[in-house]
Amino acid sequence: MVGIIMGSDSDLPVMKAAAMILEELGVQYEITVISAHRSPQKAMEYATSAAKRGLKVIIAGAGGAAHLPGVLAAFTPLPVIGVPIKTPTLSGVDSLYSIVQMPSGIPVATVSIDGAKNAGILAAQILGAGDPQVRETVVSYKQRLSAEVNKKGELLQEIGYQAYLEQKK
Ligand code: RP5
Repeated sequence: MVGIIMGSDSDLPVMKAAAMILEELGVQYEITVISAHRSPQKAMEYATSAAKRGLKVIIAGAGGAAHLPGVLAAFTPLPVIGVPIKTPTLSGVDSLYSIVQMPSGIPVATVSIDGAKNAGILAAQILGAGDPQVRETVVSYKQRLSAEVNKKGELLQEIGYQAYLEQKK
């Protein structure tokens, strides 16, 4: 259902978060490394065949001159979610700008720097628009988040900030 692609295996420690949340949400995915610069032919082939192979959404993470999400988006009618990877030199602002500043006509839905988890959730939400089962899973996930926040707020009110911080240690 979802293709998770990254420009290098050095992106995997970040990109695994997309796989983890898709597993939690019960969404099938495939995951691999393809580089827009080092294996451009493969990038083109992956994107042009993705819809025919049954994929519905592509998540693409890349760092630095992060052209992978944009190149994939150029070759596929599927929605592409871009994950800018944090870089040691420019802290991922280079990746963010490379991914988010797409030319008119070829959008990439860009999440935050290292925002692979949100990319996975967004992919599930896109699928959920046409799949009631996935949509229901997303609803349950949001309800869980809400319940967790409420619990924290109630505890903070009840015991005060000092005790709250103590029990978090
Ligand atoms: C990008 O170059 C990759 O997405 C990665 O974030 C970055 C560095 O790649 P490696 O040199 O670690 O393989 O294409």
